[in-house]
Amino acid sequence: MRSPKILVFAGSIRTASFNARLAALAAKELALLNVDVTRISLLDYPLPLFHGDLEAEQGAPANAVKLKRMFGVHHGVFIASPEYNASITPLLKNTLDWISRVREAAEPPLTAYRQRVFALGAASNGTHGGYRSLMALRQVLELGCGALVLPEQIAVTEAATAFDEMDNLREERHAQKLRSVLGQLVESARHYA
Ligand SMILES: Cc1cc2nc3c(=O)[nH]c(=O)nc-3n(C[C@H](O)[C@H](O)[C@H](O)COP(=O)(O)O)c2cc1C
Repeated sequence: MRSPKILVFAGSIRTASFNARLAALAAKELALLNVDVTRISLLDYPLPLFHGDLEAEQGAPANAVKLKRMFGVHHGVFIASPEYNASITPLLKNTLDWISRVREAAEPPLTAYRQRVFALGAASNGTHGGYRSLMALRQVLELGCGALVLPEQIAVTEAATAFDEMDNLREERHAQKLRSVLGQLVESARHYA
């Protein structure tokens, strides 16, 4: 069986993003599991706000096609999702929406979301760790895009103090949960490798 390839990114491009830190830590932990990890920043894939007329006139932007193909060459995807007003960030929703619209040649719709597995995490500086963002993201991916999303997820509470100076999670319960989520992601992704 081939080693699975895992894609990791955060739904925030803020310089000191907690979720970018969570994504970076996830990538580090995945590397320790001996899988092939790609970590990207959405900063490198700017997209216009989705607009039906824009799509009709110009088709999907090049960065949406790149991201769709990026999903396509990975067997598992870990998304670290910030919480905005009990939901996901406009950046993440816009990105997922554009990717959902890319259809190359005669392929069926939503191929970026099929034949791979997703795992979710969130970090927020509150007591619930952005879990409402995870519920919203799960809805978008599962119901909207037909993706397989693992039930286990990580919500990092009190994110401002949750990471130590090495960017590891201070609390063992958080560290263990992250390892558990990632372990399941890798095992599930093996089925698609
Ligand atoms: C418009 C807006 C709405 C927010 N709503 C929530 C919220 O509902 N729950 C929450 O825990 N944090 C909320 N926050 C705080 C974010 O979780 C915080 O800005 C966090 O740092 C964003 O993630 P990042 O660090 O990865 O950029 C909100 C922030 C913004 C800008």
